Amino acid sequence: MQSPATTAVWDLPTRLFHWSLLPLFIAAWVSAEEGYMEVHEWCGYTVLVLVGFRILWGFAGSSHSRFSSFLRGPAAVLEYFKRGEWSGEGHNPAGGWSVVAMLALLLSQGVSGLFNEDDIAFSGPLAHLAGDLADSVNEWHELNFNLLLAMTGVHVIAVLLYLRRGKNLVRPMVTGGMAGNRTVTASPWLALALLAASAALLWWLLSLAPKPAPFL
Ligand code: HEM
Ligand code: HEM
Repeated sequence: MQSPATTAVWDLPTRLFHWSLLPLFIAAWVSAEEGYMEVHEWCGYTVLVLVGFRILWGFAGSSHSRFSSFLRGPAAVLEYFKRGEWSGEGHNPAGGWSVVAMLALLLSQGVSGLFNEDDIAFSGPLAHLAGDLADSVNEWHELNFNLLLAMTGVHVIAVLLYLRRGKNLVRPMVTGGMAGNRTVTASPWLALALLAASAALLWWLLSLAPKPAPFL
């Protein structure tokens, strides 16, 4: 455990998680549009494993990565909107909830993908379980993506607005920043173990598929 004065606001696992999402999200989008469905599938699996990890890290990670440190009640959110600024460390009260919304949308995107199929030759590994709901799953995957895209757009605009007002949130997400009141520093080994647990869970889910997934 390091002393609080020398620790980062965003621990390395949270930063790696975040910056991996960006290329994966773009690659999943482009590959689906261009019909490279195997690439799409792999990007989707990786996003699912990462989001599974981030959820676990939200309970066991370093102070500012924990849900308990950034999910605040409605009064705090209203107060934040009234004042229009946030002087604390970590996600602001509105940002904290937007993190949960983005994680939920990413999870829902990946899970619906597992049950989805296109009209041609590609189907997610669990598509056989969708039955009569196949069309709904397909619509859900598409609608959810549009919500995700909108949410990500708002997310990036919010970050840019902060930048215009002189507060650079991107730098700490790259370098880690400097935390004054971080109390828990979770080990990167724990992060690796949780990442492995998340991958194992997906592996198990995929083992339920009737035809073997490419790596089984
Ligand atoms: C150029 C694109 C992006 C930039 C500049 C950016 C920037 C940031 C910044 C600065 C934060 C920290 C906000 C804070 O201080 O409270 C953050 C957090 C976050 N961003 Fe992004 N982001 C980008 C793209 C994305 C994409 C594509 C996604 C997902 C689809 C995403 C999902 C998230 C999530 C889930 C968090 C919370 C991080 C955590 O606590 O684990 N971001 N982003
Ligand atoms: C989590 C990240 C994912 C993102 C961002 C994503 C995004 C998309 C997008 C934008 C489309 C095109 C929608 C349309 O216009 O019809 C699509 C289609 C599709 N996705 Fe995903 N997806 C993800 C995960 C997955 C996963 C994990 C699978 C399955 C292994 C999957 C299976 C499919 C299938 C089968 C289609 C074709 C649907 C059709 O053509 O009607 N997706 N996805």
